[in-house]
Amino acid sequence: MSITIKTAEEIEKMRVAGRLTAEVLDYIKPFVKPGVSTDALDKLCHDLMVDVQNSIPAPLNYAPPGHKPYPKSICSSINHQVCHGVPSVDKKLKNGDVVNLDITVIKDGWHGDSSRMFYVGEPSILARRLTEITYECMWKGIAAVRPGVHLGVVGAAIQKHAESNGYSVVREFCGHGIGRGFHEEPQVLHYGKASEGPILEPGMTFTIEPMINAGRRDIRVLGDGWTVVTKDHSLSTQWEHTILVTGTGYEVLTLSAECPPPPAFITG
Ligand code: MF3
Ligand code: CO
Ligand code: CO
Repeated sequence: MSITIKTAEEIEKMRVAGRLTAEVLDYIKPFVKPGVSTDALDKLCHDLMVDVQNSIPAPLNYAPPGHKPYPKSICSSINHQVCHGVPSVDKKLKNGDVVNLDITVIKDGWHGDSSRMFYVGEPSILARRLTEITYECMWKGIAAVRPGVHLGVVGAAIQKHAESNGYSVVREFCGHGIGRGFHEEPQVLHYGKASEGPILEPGMTFTIEPMINAGRRDIRVLGDGWTVVTKDHSLSTQWEHTILVTGTGYEVLTLSAECPPPPAFITG
């Protein structure tokens, strides 16, 4: 398989899927409070997708090669969990936690994929700083997207911003092409050289979803086969948007009213 270029009609369907993905994240925000279980958040999101949006939660039963089927409809990754945290009745959010909720919907056969960080009560200054720098990292990567450049510009921009702030970039997981498939080509690395990778063309769609650690970059996967944590138990945060390469730059397909605004270096 190679990188698919989406037609105008397909892009319109990606816009719809992206909008619904953002709508789930907007909807769940007021429920992210101390005492709520991640399983309750999963059920709320599942029911919105299935009963209201008539969309399909892509993670549910998702089984890439070498993995057992993912058992839930969203991913919820708390504090030192890097990604793919599995919602559970036993995982109750507590004051000071930072949690990433990662939503992927399928609508009319097309995917939208986005994740945001949420503060549970009052997190530490350190947790806020990591969350904010990671948000800037994602936007540094997005802002580098335009036709004619190598995809490596994205990872190079992200790595530079993360490391100059004293943080590390997770290597084992990356962004990905997205469309009819959940995970398509290309792999979107969050580190590396600007001169590497395929040349971007209008109509390509992919995610940018940096996982940035306060400590060392190393990770391990828990016994559930899914939940990824930092080896040193340091905090890890992540943000994700689905991006379209346009004729002149980029379009973010997973925006909504409730998303935090882009950093000042984007909006001027
Ligand atoms: N949404 C994740 C991503 O950004 C993938 C989750 S796969 C799952 O690519 F099976 F864990 F849900
Ligand atoms: Co993704
Ligand atoms: Co995702």
